[in-house]
Amino acid sequence: MTDIIDESKNFPFELIKWYRRNHRKLPWRDTNDPYKIWLSEIILQQTRVDQGLAYYNRFISKYPKVADLATADQEEVLKDWQGLGYYSRARNLHAAANMIVEDFDGAFPNNYSEIKKLKGVGDYTAAAIASFAYGEAKAVVDGNVYRLLSRYFGIETPIDSTAGKKEFAQLAQELIPKKEAGEYNQAIMEFGALQCKPKNPDCDSCPLQASCSAYANDKVELLPIKARKTKVRNRYFHYLILEVDDQLVLRKREGKGIWQNLFDFPLIESEKLLEWKKLEELVELNSVGIDAKYEFEAESDERKHLLSHQKLHCKFFHLRLSDYNGELKKEFQLCKKNELERYPIPKLIENYLREETNLLSLFNNQS
Ligand code: ADE
Repeated sequence: MTDIIDESKNFPFELIKWYRRNHRKLPWRDTNDPYKIWLSEIILQQTRVDQGLAYYNRFISKYPKVADLATADQEEVLKDWQGLGYYSRARNLHAAANMIVEDFDGAFPNNYSEIKKLKGVGDYTAAAIASFAYGEAKAVVDGNVYRLLSRYFGIETPIDSTAGKKEFAQLAQELIPKKEAGEYNQAIMEFGALQCKPKNPDCDSCPLQASCSAYANDKVELLPIKARKTKVRNRYFHYLILEVDDQLVLRKREGKGIWQNLFDFPLIESEKLLEWKKLEELVELNSVGIDAKYEFEAESDERKHLLSHQKLHCKFFHLRLSDYNGELKKEFQLCKKNELERYPIPKLIENYLREETNLLSLFNNQS
């Protein structure tokens, strides 16, 4: 007999043991309903559990079944999603609900490869749904899993390389216990979220410490390794808040790019942030499609907003229009000031309007 214990045999069972004692009670863990699990996973893709929970509960009470979501208007779903960001998740959610109704006769697909056909569902989400709802032994690989496996097994292959993705996916799939696939997948993610955290992981109380490669080699803070830094592009937005009597000019964002199908205001983008004096030279209200006189009322301070690959530097300019003939370009529309609350708008704009104007109430903030 050799003294060397095959640590990988212990690993799944230690995780499950830890999970049973330490996991958070969350509503999507008390159900086998694939619709509820799917919804929770889409919400949690780029959102923390404490923020996502309120959205999950609101969605489930407003859309208890997948058909309820499918019959809603996309604009309504975007409005309900407001504040969560990454709006393609909401557009895909709505499109996938329609796929389920139309292509799957209203029944949620019941295995990994069918689930993966749904819009917005990739390897991770399909594995999560298939294992939590149906017990299928497909390993989830998310940021938590990369971190834990790279540290515990001392893997230094970059997690954002093709080789790394393959290596981690293979290892994760070898580790998953066939009979406890769902619970194991929950456990590995929960362990990553609560114990083996990105910063200041709790190694002193960790049940895997004795066999953790990174702990033994003092590499916990160095792992996982990422080859590329995300490049962030700076953009400079000047929003025009145009008031005509008791109305505002709104724009529906179409085409590709950020915030597709959300509403914002006429926008002038430039290479740096401008003050009104400079901007005025660029404001050709005719190019915004509005033939009117305008009077400058106020400009905001700079407000910054970080997206995944962009840093937005924004200023808002309040202008009052007169002698306006009522014509608008097709992407614009007039909206009564007291009806602004109905439209899905980006968080950046919502925050500004709530904090610095009386156009949205401060106290009706659902997020
Ligand atoms: N993050 C992603 N999926 C999760 C889940 N099922 N529970 C908790 N956090 C999660």
